[in-house]
Amino acid sequence: MNDVNRQWVVARASQSQGIGLERECFGQRTGDIPTPADGEVLIRNVYFACDPMNHAWVKGLEARFEPIPVGQAMKGGIAGRVVASRSERFAVGDAVTGFLDWADYVVCDGIDDTGTALQKLPPGADLASGLATLGMTGQCAYLGLADFGKPQPGETVVVSGAAGAIGTVAGQIARIHGARVIGIAGGPQKCAMLKDQLQFEQTIDYKNEEVADRLAALCPEGIDVFFDNVGGPILDAALANIAHGGRIVICGGISGYNDEVPGLQNHLMLAMRGAQMAGFFYFDYVHRFEEAAAQLNAWLREGKIQEVLDIAEGFDAAADAALRQFAGGNTGKQLVKIAHDPHPGEPSTGL
Ligand SMILES: NC(=O)c1ccc[n+]([C@@H]2O[C@H](COP(=O)([O-])OP(=O)(O)OC[C@H]3O[C@@H](n4cnc5c(N)ncnc54)[C@H](OP(=O)(O)O)[C@@H]3O)[C@@H](O)[C@H]2O)c1
Repeated sequence: MNDVNRQWVVARASQSQGIGLERECFGQRTGDIPTPADGEVLIRNVYFACDPMNHAWVKGLEARFEPIPVGQAMKGGIAGRVVASRSERFAVGDAVTGFLDWADYVVCDGIDDTGTALQKLPPGADLASGLATLGMTGQCAYLGLADFGKPQPGETVVVSGAAGAIGTVAGQIARIHGARVIGIAGGPQKCAMLKDQLQFEQTIDYKNEEVADRLAALCPEGIDVFFDNVGGPILDAALANIAHGGRIVICGGISGYNDEVPGLQNHLMLAMRGAQMAGFFYFDYVHRFEEAAAQLNAWLREGKIQEVLDIAEGFDAAADAALRQFAGGNTGKQLVKIAHDPHPGEPSTGL
């Protein structure tokens, strides 16, 4: 065990208009490794998850998360191992995920900093998968499609942010349901990965192609399900091409988090085509996490979902990794590996 605990902290208040933090907001400090009290566990973090939410959390998310004051620990998704336990629910060696301090070590009483129960990974599951397919990323893709998109065999499903963390999983789930899947992503390399590696039927490179025209050409009978991660002009182009009875799932809107995007022009297509648009917030679905993780784990083990991971190495890499997503620097799930797994291959005590 290291004898110090490195921690990422909010070093400066953000001056950006949007939710994105500047590099100067990320600072570090070291301290002692915390000692678990009665009912608590000590977790050795192995991976951090980079999510747009990390930024929003520091600035505060109306009615959801209080802002994190300057000087306090940065928070985000973590996957790690229990290395000391004074809790009846957790044993040393358990693989856990949650939203906690971005530090080498953190103590937890079983409830993370979002108020959600720490999640144990299924036996044999990889820690990285715990943050990607089996964590918030995969669960958002699963819930958005199961509850709102409801893709049917033969339907056309379009996914934006398709080469990102949630997008790669959402497209593959739609394919599992027998839909034809079209991914919208930035750049030829990401589009090639979607077709060659993940078997998306078609792709649109929004940085080099006219999205509305391409959607009209690729979806002559309209888009049955649009799973949206980016919002803005791409959502507007999808609205223009929505099918009768189409469903639009609002997962996120990253194009508008930092930059002002024009208002929607084509929202009346919802009325003209009898289509629906609905959003969901991950933390409203805590009661479904176990179901989602179990199904995603089964698909992963059966080889029906391929996991796309983008792993930055080392504790110091976390700030730059967290900033990459806004510039499209990541392909698949952006993680930071900060340590070796202290109990590799050891089965967790289960869900
Ligand atoms: N509803 C919920 O509860 C919930 C939970 C978690 C996340 N989310 C949201 O889900 C979305 C996806 O999250 P994620 O973690 O999977 O992130 P991600 O897709 O791995 O990363 C973001 C991607 O968005 C794309 N992007 C960035 N700026 C863009 C722009 N202006 N126009 C079009 N694309 C742009 C980039 O890919 P390109 O290279 O293709 O541009 C980038 O790689 C985000 O909007 C996030 O806020 C929602």
